[in-house]
Amino acid sequence: MELVLEKVRNLKGNISVPGDKSISHRSLILGSIAQGEARIYNFLSSLDCLRTLECMRALGVEIKRSSNSSLKIKGKGLYGLQEPKDILDVGNSGTTIRLLTGLLSGQDFYSVLCGDASIRKRPMKRVVEPLRLMGGNIWGRKDGQFAPLSVRGNKLNPLHYTLPIASAQVKTALLLAGLYATGETVIREPLSTRDHTERMLEIMQADIKISPPEIKLMGGKELRGTDIFIPGDISSAAYFIVAASVLKGSQITIKQVGVNPTRTGIIGILNKMGAKINILNYQIKSNEPQANLMIEYSKLKGVEIEKENVAFLIDELPLIAVVATQAQGKTVVSGARELRVKETDRIKAIVSELKKMEADIKEKEDGFIVEGPSKLKGAVCESYNDHRIAMSLAVAALLAEGKTVIRNSECIDISFPGFEKILQNLINF
Ligand code: S3P
Repeated sequence: MELVLEKVRNLKGNISVPGDKSISHRSLILGSIAQGEARIYNFLSSLDCLRTLECMRALGVEIKRSSNSSLKIKGKGLYGLQEPKDILDVGNSGTTIRLLTGLLSGQDFYSVLCGDASIRKRPMKRVVEPLRLMGGNIWGRKDGQFAPLSVRGNKLNPLHYTLPIASAQVKTALLLAGLYATGETVIREPLSTRDHTERMLEIMQADIKISPPEIKLMGGKELRGTDIFIPGDISSAAYFIVAASVLKGSQITIKQVGVNPTRTGIIGILNKMGAKINILNYQIKSNEPQANLMIEYSKLKGVEIEKENVAFLIDELPLIAVVATQAQGKTVVSGARELRVKETDRIKAIVSELKKMEADIKEKEDGFIVEGPSKLKGAVCESYNDHRIAMSLAVAALLAEGKTVIRNSECIDISFPGFEKILQNLINF
């Protein structure tokens, strides 16, 4: 599929975006191993989350979908999962494979996890190594570096571990394994990452103590299933926040967006660049903060983003490259080497495609440098089958003179089905 977009005047209107991807994955996994029935509201029915849903069903969990975004999960308790009869196919989803590797390490059965060509290139050692320290039996290509991974669950020892990289996926995999360990697991983060797992474990009455940078979790305690309301995904809202910030005359409101401080790096950086973002109706639901965001056009200036700030906006960095092309002066992103091992090498991908659109952008080993402002030109661009690259280029296309074609745009459904429709509703020519 190709997404074809042209320059627009501005964006106006009120929208909401689908549920948060990270929280949707976690609600399925934790709901499945909790005791009792739980309803999940505003679940994200995207390809990645549906992979987790199918994997949990293959592990014997009954999950009913009463609508596209409402689920009912019959929790099996910590020890109620069953051996899957076939390979668990995670598709393109790094979150699914890493989180499930942690969960399956503590199950008394054998399972195999695999996914698409991108998944089979992504680093798995980061979860395999610490899980092996807990006593997990995990095999994979190149001594567990790459999927397919096979896991023969085991009795796990608790782990005391400092994460070598800031990764919420690794942290969550270890916490899931920690639920099955005989004693207290202690995890330290070098830099804070998204804390949705900890928040959900708290409301499910896990024996967890959170005192950043340390998390302590006692194994063996059953979780209590609870209804969960999932806020809109700030990483999906980000495309519209940026587009409205750079298109003169824009004013939009995005309702019920998750504003967990471990995810709002994009708002902080845009504010530093001079954006006008108002946070209204702040409230906490299911232990997660949410708010309405009102965004108006504003003149922006370049910014420096360092390693300490990267984790809170890791998925928005390709979009930062786009906004930087419209800001006055230099924008430098450093300490973001992790982008090279996402669904694609996101540094290489965004730099090469924005160059085609005549942006002044240079690749760095651990980020990029953009000199702005520049007048973008429409071009034929590649998505690299990466949803975040495709949607970031879609925002660039709204600014570019002429027509932009984004090839293989169907990957957008990985995290944001309905993206184009919502965008079209906001556009003024
Ligand atoms: C995620 C964590 C991040 C993020 C990904 C979702 C999660 O990955 O990029 O889109 O749900 O935990 P890392 O933990 O590998 O940085």
